[in-house]
Amino acid sequence: MNTLSILIVVFFIFLILKYWTQIFGAGYDPTPQKIAMKMLEMADLKKKEILYDLGCGDGRFLILGAKKFGARGIGIEISPLRYTWAKINVKLNNLSDKIKIKHGNFFKFSISDADVVALFLFEPTNRKLSEKFKKELKPSARIVSYYWKIPGLKPSEIDKKYHIYLYKMKDQFN
Ligand SMILES: C[S@@+](CC[C@H](N)C(=O)[O-])C[C@H]1O[C@@H](n2cnc3c(N)ncnc32)[C@H](O)[C@@H]1O
Repeated sequence: MNTLSILIVVFFIFLILKYWTQIFGAGYDPTPQKIAMKMLEMADLKKKEILYDLGCGDGRFLILGAKKFGARGIGIEISPLRYTWAKINVKLNNLSDKIKIKHGNFFKFSISDADVVALFLFEPTNRKLSEKFKKELKPSARIVSYYWKIPGLKPSEIDKKYHIYLYKMKDQFN
């Protein structure tokens, strides 16, 4: 194999590792830190509250939530590579007592203890999740989604500049 063929093969392996999870909900694209911070502020995340990140990638939302807001975090990630990466990231930040990372498909986990749910997925995935949110989340829970709205839920606030959608569960039933 010449160098060009090796580069092409490596490039395709990279694409597969980044995007295979698209069939379950979204490929990998981390939320910029500045936007993650704005999202958690908009959700009014409080000390000791439970923050979920559905498809937690490298765990950045949860680490930010624990460090800047004193929240506890639960991340669910389907990619074994990113699950391991998030676990290492949490350990390196000495936050293993505050953050739990679970491996698997978030549709199969209960999220009923969530105070805030952070999302950066796709609109069709958000649409499917809206039913789960209505069934499982308590009235005081908030959901913040980056870039894509959640069809099936009424937004409580929209930041048009940064494409952030906030949904308060208490606003869904009136
Ligand atoms: C766009 S990335 C966002 C990562 C992180 N939440 C962030 O904002 O930086 C979406 C993540 O969701 C994960 N994912 C997609 N579908 C999933 C599913 N059904 N269950 C668990 N994780 C999923 C992907 O592997 C990917 O890491």
